[in-house]
Amino acid sequence: MKTLISSDVRLLADLIRKGGVVVFPTETVFGIGASSFNEEACKRIYKIKGRPSDNPLIAHFSSIEGIKSVCEVSEVAERLLCEFAPGPITLVLPKKNPNIFPKEMPTLAVRIPKNPVIREWIEECGSPISAPSANLSGRPSLTRMTDALRYFDGIVDGILVAEEPNLGIESTVVGLYEDPPVLLRPGSIESDQLKLFLPNLVLPNVITKSGEFIPPSPGMKYKHYSPQAHVKLLPSETFVSEFLQCGKDSKTAWIGFSFGPTVDDDKPTHKIDPIRMKLVSSNWEYSSALYAFFESCDQLGMETIYCEEPREKSGKEGLLNRLQKASEAN
Ligand code: TXA
Ligand code: MG
Repeated sequence: MKTLISSDVRLLADLIRKGGVVVFPTETVFGIGASSFNEEACKRIYKIKGRPSDNPLIAHFSSIEGIKSVCEVSEVAERLLCEFAPGPITLVLPKKNPNIFPKEMPTLAVRIPKNPVIREWIEECGSPISAPSANLSGRPSLTRMTDALRYFDGIVDGILVAEEPNLGIESTVVGLYEDPPVLLRPGSIESDQLKLFLPNLVLPNVITKSGEFIPPSPGMKYKHYSPQAHVKLLPSETFVSEFLQCGKDSKTAWIGFSFGPTVDDDKPTHKIDPIRMKLVSSNWEYSSALYAFFESCDQLGMETIYCEEPREKSGKEGLLNRLQKASEAN
């Protein structure tokens, strides 16, 4: 298949109107989208990704009005949208229009991407865009145009060239279809911020019935975010001591805040190999770099990726969730 790669939103909107599938960047990660009113095109996305058919897609809108035209927007939902949208938040709302994909579900996940160019494209498409993250199912989402091209050139109808994601992890997903509201997926908008609007917000790990974990959202039961390399998540002290022991092994990769010994420590250090190591200065920078680092490590054939635990600071919630999922998966 010939893929149109362009920053011309009108050309890329034409493809969507003709039933095409288009890869596009958002402020979180890349998405792979089709018109929410074209069931056949939406189903093609599942084939391309190898995504389980019971895992519904987020519909992306250019405005709150667009969301209101297809969903019941409660007062609190509207307040959340006014505060956090456009931005990295997805709300799962009761559906008003049954014709929007996925037709069989009574709820719809909705989100308004931050980049004005992406919103302009959605506007031009004349319909919301249903899109999961643009990655193969179970693998890390993509955050660089080079990776999007490597995976999807020749596979999709178009790739919209626009600003690359900077947040680096997928949006926070909040279920507002029942009371109490549920945090379905942590992300850059954290539970403390949400609780100002939703004081009775339920966090995912407290949802248990006879000791069993019940996934509140279909996506939560599937393996996620894992590179081919084995991921090890370590507390800071262990991370540094492991690095001092194994850092020379050319099949190991490292991402964290510090690679050296403390000043009063006399252990030998290694010269840092920038290809296999990524130093970050905050949880935000860590999130932004994580998936791209995973991709690079897989391309380089790394066997183990050592990840330092996030700092006890803002930006920890979503990052820790992705690191835990990546490390549990293998
Ligand atoms: O940042 C993001 O959210 C990116 C960009 C492209 O917008 N998209 C993304 O989509 O991460 P995806 O499909 O990879 O993750 C969507 C999550 C899944 O866990 C899915 O199960 C959940 O949202 N979800 C979607 N519709 C739902 C619904 N009606 N009820 C409950 N959960 C839903
Ligand atoms: Mg995904």
